[in-house]
Amino acid sequence: MRKSYEAHENEYKRMKSKGIKSWERRNYPWSIFPPDRHFIENVFMLKWAPKKTRAIELGCGTGTISRWLAKKGFTVTGIDISKTAIQMAKAQSKTFKIKYINKDFCSTNVKSLGKYNLCIDGHFMHCITDKKDRKIALNKIRQILNPSGILVFMSMCSPISRKNLLKTYSSQRILGNIIYIDAKIYGKFEGSRVIGGKEYIPMRYIAHWKSLLSELRQAGFSPMITEYFKYDKNNPEEPTGLLNVAAIRK
Ligand SMILES: C[S@@+](CC[C@H](N)C(=O)[O-])C[C@H]1O[C@@H](n2cnc3c(N)ncnc32)[C@H](O)[C@@H]1O
Repeated sequence: MRKSYEAHENEYKRMKSKGIKSWERRNYPWSIFPPDRHFIENVFMLKWAPKKTRAIELGCGTGTISRWLAKKGFTVTGIDISKTAIQMAKAQSKTFKIKYINKDFCSTNVKSLGKYNLCIDGHFMHCITDKKDRKIALNKIRQILNPSGILVFMSMCSPISRKNLLKTYSSQRILGNIIYIDAKIYGKFEGSRVIGGKEYIPMRYIAHWKSLLSELRQAGFSPMITEYFKYDKNNPEEPTGLLNVAAIRK
């Protein structure tokens, strides 16, 4: 059975059919991405900032962050599991020299990717709901980074507001560390669960921010700066916390 990460393809097809060019402009009045770029800007100003050579964005989607990195002077590779996302990224990056790869990062041969000084987790790791795959992905990130290379990790996290999640996203449910979405929306995928008599598929990993930091340490990264945003109970559209970390590969 297909991994639920592949369900993103359905979302990009939907975006493309509606003429929506990027994740940050899907159809919501809010956007979580500019603060990410602000965070990365701060990382660039630090003593241990990555050299402006090779950078990779994991889960590059339609290439918004990849193009921004290219403008900053990096030689960029973007990888995404969704074929439609990569087509959309290429169409929007004609004036850029960005290499786009359509693959599942968790099963990609890292030797084929080469080495990088900067790896941006473009909200990719919070899609990796399977614990084994999370270990595999973090191990691969370690392998593609040069020693002292930088991982910018950007992830949804808990605590979350269950009340707001259910209020805004009626098709979603939360069980343990995972947000599930109604299987009727994207179809059947691995790891599905029956909740309240309905089938749901796993979509987002939202462990506690402290546990995400330990996971990074255990995987061989030293978190250097951390930015944590608690959910705002008055903003039901963003019911989860957000964690940004810049970590050095040990
Ligand atoms: C929340 S979106 C963010 C997209 C993009 N970084 C941006 O800023 O617009 C997460 C992306 O991760 C991709 N993704 C999820 N699992 C993946 C996997 N196993 N391998 C590669 N890409 C994956 C999804 O297809 C999706 O494009």
